[in-house]
Amino acid sequence: IQLPGTIFFIFGASGDLTSRKLVPALYNLFLDGWMPLNFAIIGMGRSAYTDEKYRDLLLEDINSYSRNGKADERWTSFSKHLYYQISDIGNDDSYQEQVRRINNFKETWGEEPSVIYYLAVAPRFFGTIAEKLAKHQLTANTEKTRVVIEKPFGHDFESAKALNQLLSTVFTEQQIYRIDHYLGKETVQNILAFRFANSILEPIWNRNYIDHVEISVTEQLGVEGRGGYYEEAGALRDMVQNHIFQLLCLVAMEPPVSFQADEVRNRKVDVLHAMRKFKPEDVAKNAVRGQYGSGWIEGKQVKGYREEENVNPESNTETFAALKLFIDNWRWHGVPFYLRTGKRMHQTASTITIQFKDVPHMIFPTETIEGWQQNRLIISIQPEMSIRLQMQAKRPGLSMTLNPIDLIFDYRGAYEGQSPEAYETLLLDTMIGDQTLFMRADQVEAAWDLLMPVLNSWSAKKSLNFPNYSADSWGPELAEALIAKDGFHWFTLP
Ligand code: BG6
Repeated sequence: IQLPGTIFFIFGASGDLTSRKLVPALYNLFLDGWMPLNFAIIGMGRSAYTDEKYRDLLLEDINSYSRNGKADERWTSFSKHLYYQISDIGNDDSYQEQVRRINNFKETWGEEPSVIYYLAVAPRFFGTIAEKLAKHQLTANTEKTRVVIEKPFGHDFESAKALNQLLSTVFTEQQIYRIDHYLGKETVQNILAFRFANSILEPIWNRNYIDHVEISVTEQLGVEGRGGYYEEAGALRDMVQNHIFQLLCLVAMEPPVSFQADEVRNRKVDVLHAMRKFKPEDVAKNAVRGQYGSGWIEGKQVKGYREEENVNPESNTETFAALKLFIDNWRWHGVPFYLRTGKRMHQTASTITIQFKDVPHMIFPTETIEGWQQNRLIISIQPEMSIRLQMQAKRPGLSMTLNPIDLIFDYRGAYEGQSPEAYETLLLDTMIGDQTLFMRADQVEAAWDLLMPVLNSWSAKKSLNFPNYSADSWGPELAEALIAKDGFHWFTLP
């Protein structure tokens, strides 16, 4: 694709996101030949850096975080496109300076550039930035200017609505790119390909064949110095409202008529609309929360959540959440969806498990079956990147003995080279102007709306037994009970 000249203005030039994700992703795109011929990346921040100093600082980050290893002379060519602008979000001069820079590039490149404003700053600054960009006519060209924002998109339903409203006073929805980095992951994008480019799945992808679905995103990491943010968020806001609901939508959506942004997003939002609302009295029955205590992970003692920096020693914030949900439509009626996520868990693994129903009549005697497992499809998103179909097969030998086997598609074995990072895909899409993998305002609001009864109930009632799981465990016992009472258990990779 021949992309037009593009200018990135990154608000939050020296933040973690910029150094760990954005600049390494843009650099990798450059190395792989995806960047436009004309481009400029302008970091905006308050520190008094020169362009040179900024480039040096970013070089260190590239050496640490780029999947292409140590930077070399190619970095030198890339870094010529990097600039630093000392700026203050509330100051009009900073925006005038942006106008000046845009005009300069326009003249030098001899074309009208696309301009992307990346708001890698705390959401409390979004309002001022939007207002100032509008005041200085920086967003007037709705075809050529875009804004990228990162979660959290609000703190609850009302604040998300207010944020969407505020952004909509300055930008059209087509200009707003709300990032959920899960949607950029290879294995997550593949759910669409897998479901909608193969004909054999659709006939069985429904309540007639599927018994239940599990989506599990567990992490060994704790809050990693982000206690201040996490105290206000918790697992539901941090992971479920966005990433996990997105995975759920991809698994449960109806086939879109085409791979166009709004066609795909319409079908995803349908899922959120069909999800059964929690009644306040059901929260205790269908939602489980947990908070980690101290423990040992890989031979190292780790702190409990309440001992982490910037965390209240009596914190009521959940670091684990499990939910049982239903989708009330023809495809999924009566099929439970179990979701769980937690920090400081025994294993880092994101998996989607589709459990199929039992055979209608078993012809093999029980004693011939070693480890019965009804058909199961396991989509592993990370760190393992695979799709396995578990089947029963005959064990070789003279007797008719059955045991479960896996048919495995493993990305690492199947394809050479590294997969691009989620941010590479998503940043390229912002340059192309493709919103398929981005969250639309109504999706964000619908997701919040669904979680509000749980959030309200949990914040109104303090959990008396926190911490209720130790680091390196599989979470609170009640989470096991949530699924065990239906006769199932959480699937874990061997
Ligand atoms: C982020 C959350 O959105 O996703 C983090 O804020 C979490 O708490 C992270 O650790 C997980 O992302 P990934 O790509 O490592 O699975």
